[in-house]
Amino acid sequence: MEVIAVSQLKEAGYEYYHFKDKIDYPGIDDDLAALQHAFDNLPADEYAPHLNRYRRYGRALVMPGTHEVTWLPETWVDGHAYYEYFQGSFNPEYVGEYRRFPALWQCSMENRLLREMIRQDFRETFWTREDALMPFHAGVHFVKLKVENPGDVAVSSPNTLHQDGEPFTFAHLIRRNNISGGLNAISVPRHRGKMPADIPQDDIKQSFYLDKPLESYSVYDPLVTHYVGDVEKGETDGPGERSAILIDYQPTVIADPDQIRSTRGNTDFMIYV
Ligand SMILES: [Fe+2]
Repeated sequence: MEVIAVSQLKEAGYEYYHFKDKIDYPGIDDDLAALQHAFDNLPADEYAPHLNRYRRYGRALVMPGTHEVTWLPETWVDGHAYYEYFQGSFNPEYVGEYRRFPALWQCSMENRLLREMIRQDFRETFWTREDALMPFHAGVHFVKLKVENPGDVAVSSPNTLHQDGEPFTFAHLIRRNNISGGLNAISVPRHRGKMPADIPQDDIKQSFYLDKPLESYSVYDPLVTHYVGDVEKGETDGPGERSAILIDYQPTVIADPDQIRSTRGNTDFMIYV
């Protein structure tokens, strides 16, 4: 697959597109169905159960040059696999906190479509030479907003125009069914923390709904803010759902020795890995 020299992502800081326009192969629909099945089995987000949000998470490394994808080991607690998660100070609802999410299923991690997403999305990212000396970290979120009863509202986090803190985030719709809402909007950094309706409409670069499976968007975080609107149940009987895979990328760099907790000499709290 050919990589275009100057992409919309690099020029405008975001792109709204259909993943199949970039990657298509025999069997892609079967792989999509397998991922949709995994979304049928997402546990409630224990950090926000009242928000009708369900999720799993995985962390992978992507090698520069070869784009080889390797999943990091999970953390096991009481027989359940988790990946730990740290987002620094960028999510105002979870400042500086570690969170722990149930791990993706092994079969999802081996799913060709998911691996193609991680590789293809990574190919569209761009970095300084210094940041590209080490493998890159890909955080892979399976997130489902599900609304069962009329009047229920499912909310993304955070539910304003925001930046994620990771340099790049890609979102791929897996399924949208019997919901209203879920508006996506892209704006400029100075509107961080605001609602799209409260800013000059000329400052909204684009707004759209992800409707068909594999409709996608990407953001280069420093240049834009992004927003996902609340989701409510649609007109049809039965639950409504908006399921998406979010993939973020950041460099792994050699840390300043003063910043490394493992050099502080307190061996009681250190483990073999
Ligand atoms: Fe976000």
